[in-house]
Amino acid sequence: MRGALMDYYLKILLVICAAHELAGGTIKSTRDAVYKKYLSLRSLPFEDCGSLYQVSYLDIESCTTLPCSMARNATIKVTVRFDDNGNGVSFLKHEVRWVFNYIKTQAAITPDPCDGDHGCIESASGGKAYWANIFVNETLPVMKGSMLWESKDANDQNLICFQVPVVITV
Ligand SMILES: *[C@@H]1O[C@H](CO)[C@@H](O)[C@H](O)[C@H]1NC(C)=O
Ligand SMILES: *[C@@H]1O[C@H](CO)[C@@H](O)[C@H](O)[C@H]1NC(C)=O
Repeated sequence: MRGALMDYYLKILLVICAAHELAGGTIKSTRDAVYKKYLSLRSLPFEDCGSLYQVSYLDIESCTTLPCSMARNATIKVTVRFDDNGNGVSFLKHEVRWVFNYIKTQAAITPDPCDGDHGCIESASGGKAYWANIFVNETLPVMKGSMLWESKDANDQNLICFQVPVVITV
C-alpha cells in the first residue's frame, strides 16, 4: 500500500516537473520572439534578396529614413545582425554594389573580408553581429538608387543578401 502511494506521489512530481520544463521552454521561446520583434522594430527596413541566414537587424550610420541619404566621399558604418543557426560563422566576404538605373558598380568595403583579425564579427543574442564601413565614392551619380549587400563564406556561398534604397548627395 505504502509503495503504491509513493509511486502515486512520484508520478505527480514527474508531471509537475514536466509542466515546469514545458513552461520554461515556452517562456524562453516567447522571450526570443519578443527580442526578435524588438530588433525588427528598431531595424531599418530592407529588402531581403535570398539570405541563407535570417537578417534580424540593420543599422546604417546617420540613416533613419529611406532612401538613406549618403554624401559623396563619406565613409559610413553599417551594422547587421543575423541568426547563423548556431553555425559559428566567423568569416564573411562582402560583395557590395551600388545600383543606379540597373547599372551595378562595386562598392569599397573595409574591413573585407571580415575575419577574426578586425573584431568586425561577434556573437550577439540570437546569433551574430557584424559591422563594416562603406565608402561613398565621389564618382557616384547624385541620384536615387540602391545598395545591394551580399556576404559570402570562405566557399563563396551566399549567406546574407539585403538591399536598401539610397540617394547620393553632394
Ligand atoms: C574626401 O575626403 C578626404 C578625407 O576625408 C579629403 O581629404 C578630401 O579632400 C575629400 N574630397 C572631396 C572632394 O571632398
Ligand atoms: C572611385 O571610383 C573610381 C572610378 O570608378 C575608381 O577608379 C576608384 O578606385 C574608386 N575609389 C575607391 C576608393 O573605391
